[in-house]
Amino acid sequence: MRISSGVSGFDDLVDGGFPEGRLYVVSGPPGSGKTTFCSQFAAQGARDGDKTLYVSMHETKEGIKQDMEGYEFGFDRAVASDRITFLDALSSDGRRFFGKPNDRRDRNSVANRLTGFIESRDIDRIILDSTMLLSYLLDDTEDTAVQLLTALKRTDATTLLISEMTDPSAYSEEHYLAHGVVFMHNYLEDDGMQRGLQVLKMRGTDIDTDIHDLEFGPKGLRVGAGKPVKH
Ligand SMILES: Nc1ncnc2c1ncn2[C@@H]1O[C@H](COP(=O)(O)OP(=O)(O)O)[C@@H](O)[C@H]1O
Ligand SMILES: [Mg+2]
Repeated sequence: MRISSGVSGFDDLVDGGFPEGRLYVVSGPPGSGKTTFCSQFAAQGARDGDKTLYVSMHETKEGIKQDMEGYEFGFDRAVASDRITFLDALSSDGRRFFGKPNDRRDRNSVANRLTGFIESRDIDRIILDSTMLLSYLLDDTEDTAVQLLTALKRTDATTLLISEMTDPSAYSEEHYLAHGVVFMHNYLEDDGMQRGLQVLKMRGTDIDTDIHDLEFGPKGLRVGAGKPVKH
């Protein structure tokens, strides 16, 4: 089964949507649209009757709501429907959920808490904003990050992991571990910012790997059929 991203034009690049239950990395430099993409994914989930868990470390529910207020892709309605659960790892709720740094010495505890929550609440879609969360929660060692991502891959939920990336060739662990990688390009030309979206990989899927033009419109991000305009 494939699930819809909620981003106009995106599903066509990946044969109809994200293959369900797998883990994808959404990568790109700051301001390239990663958080907006994932918010559209959550809103689409709510429309499709899916429950989303949105884990962040620097954004609150109110903050994300405010940032998405200017768009008409139904984020407000999705939040009001209670189909999106926000967990800010740095809030007191978040600290309670994940445990104090000393209690996290048990390598599996963060993974167990998250997968326990996902399974008991029947979560369908997960957003992790961003990989910085992994280093915050996991003492910065790569082994534990791999363990956590592997545990998430084993759940039935479809996960989007946001990865801040400024150098498109500087791949890290999560890019190799993921079933798919979406890269958002954002580069300054003489006469302004150029935006593009590229699907670098998606296992089991015949993908269009071209860079497509990407626009912020009234309904959020929209992937165009053409290439970004070169000036
Ligand atoms: N119509 C718009 N409404 C809101 N933000 C917009 C709009 N057009 C462009 N942007 C830009 O989109 C960026 C926010 O994208 P965001 O999804 O938060 O990116 P990321 O998570 O990759 O940092 C901001 O830099 C903002 O200026
Ligand atoms: Mg962001």
